[in-house]
Amino acid sequence: MRSIKNALDFGAAQLKNVCDRPRYEAQILLCHATKLSRVDLVVKEQTQVDTTRFESMIARRAKGEPIEYITGLASFYSREFICEKGALIPRPETEALIDRAIDLTKDFDAPIIAEIGAGSGAVAVTLAMLSPNIRVIASDISGAAIRVARKNIERFQVADRVKLIQTNLLDGVDDDFDALISNPPYVRADYPLPKPASFEPKAALIGGKKGTEILEAIIALRKPVLACECGYDQETTLREALKKNGYKMVEFYKDYAGLTRGFTAKQ
Ligand SMILES: C[S@@+](CC[C@H](N)C(=O)[O-])C[C@H]1O[C@@H](n2cnc3c(N)ncnc32)[C@H](O)[C@@H]1O
Repeated sequence: MRSIKNALDFGAAQLKNVCDRPRYEAQILLCHATKLSRVDLVVKEQTQVDTTRFESMIARRAKGEPIEYITGLASFYSREFICEKGALIPRPETEALIDRAIDLTKDFDAPIIAEIGAGSGAVAVTLAMLSPNIRVIASDISGAAIRVARKNIERFQVADRVKLIQTNLLDGVDDDFDALISNPPYVRADYPLPKPASFEPKAALIGGKKGTEILEAIIALRKPVLACECGYDQETTLREALKKNGYKMVEFYKDYAGLTRGFTAKQ
């Protein structure tokens, strides 16, 4: 048992070399462990609480495990998605891919969007949540990712409009869609990943020796309308692949840091 204040002091001290906002993360973990609200933490700071669960969460976080895997939740496009180790933690920069997909399909009354690499399902579910007219067919090669995506589809009750298929790229998927989108693995095999990424599935991050292999395989599918996330240093390679595969209208977009983060392309 500890007082709330003492628990937060302890947690923040344990996390001070692990993250940028140790006290804030300690608050999140304490709320999660005790089911208290953030307001409770302030108004009841002298109250004694059982901190067994909190301390074990702090110990995991102190070893570098991402907070999303500890709480089991990750925030994406203003919603909280179930987040488990079999699937990549959705990243804020991928929100730009959602905006591109919406823009590419804005002229369709009831667009069907295909996604390669559903992961947690955050992208597919978000698209379905943005309009009741959107349908998504999302593939993933990983059974573990498919299981997490299925949980998010249930959580947000979009099973009637988001279909999942465990397959390589689009193998076995009908061509009956209006746009193909993907945030595939695009990190090169010898890239030194930061510590938190070592807790994520390698197959969700590593795109091959160069990093662009899966992106190039997606481009080679020659689907008429395409939007993908990519690495900041992959524009030249991907422009070449897009040209070779007949794409004429190609636009690369940047992230908030001003770095190349993805592209849209039409045949
Ligand atoms: C970077 S994660 C993206 C997950 C999610 N869409 C997101 O943006 O958070 C890439 C996903 O692609 C999947 N993947 C890797 N190779 C694949 C392939 N050949 N075919 C289908 N999915 C693949 C991985 O299992 C992983 O879930």
